[in-house]
Amino acid sequence: MIDLHTHVLPGIDDGAVDLATSIGLCRLLREQGVDTVMATPHWRSPRFDVIEPGISAAWTALTSAVAREVPGLTLLLGAEHHCSGLEDEQAFVASLRPLGDSRLVLIELPDDHLPARTWASLFAAIRAGKRPLIAHPERSKGLRSQREQLGAYVEAGGLLQLTLGSLIGAQGWSMRWHSRGLLKRYPTACLIASDSHNLVARAPLWNRLPAVWQSLVPATLVAAEDWGR
Ligand SMILES: [Fe+2]
Repeated sequence: MIDLHTHVLPGIDDGAVDLATSIGLCRLLREQGVDTVMATPHWRSPRFDVIEPGISAAWTALTSAVAREVPGLTLLLGAEHHCSGLEDEQAFVASLRPLGDSRLVLIELPDDHLPARTWASLFAAIRAGKRPLIAHPERSKGLRSQREQLGAYVEAGGLLQLTLGSLIGAQGWSMRWHSRGLLKRYPTACLIASDSHNLVARAPLWNRLPAVWQSLVPATLVAAEDWGR
């Protein structure tokens, strides 16, 4: 299976702090049944100063170490694009970094509000042929009062990435409640990823994935790209 949301790149953001942690994380993901890992460093987030040369260097270091030390694991490069400072939809669309070579783009919303041009930007991405995947929508307080807009987004082909830790209650009762509510309302638009950061507080939990949700984890990037269609 593919894990579409991870912070395995070393020393880039709040994910793996160094190469040893990255390798440990990749090894654990592989042991838990993941064969393809999408590295999704934060991009354009106000919290992290992530720049292209840093991503390239971390990617080079990690891919060569994984090839040596974690047999059977394929790494792909994507990004978790933060949705803040939205002013120009076309500039937003042009700046999106895809998940691997797919049409999928992983979009992070602020936890506490929806930026003014969020929906215009997401629909512009859909019109441009992208397939947005909202990262951990269960965390977004702004989405909770926007059911009509969220329904229209899903109807237009937008996807929702629920976090495994939220669904199984590892992130507290509130995340469990909101993630399960989204899954109930939008079953064909939801897929599961780990958003794993490290080996401690935000470790992968694929060994705790209930059998009933196995079908919500894409097998490949191609399967994810056509999710629900
Ligand atoms: Fe993330």
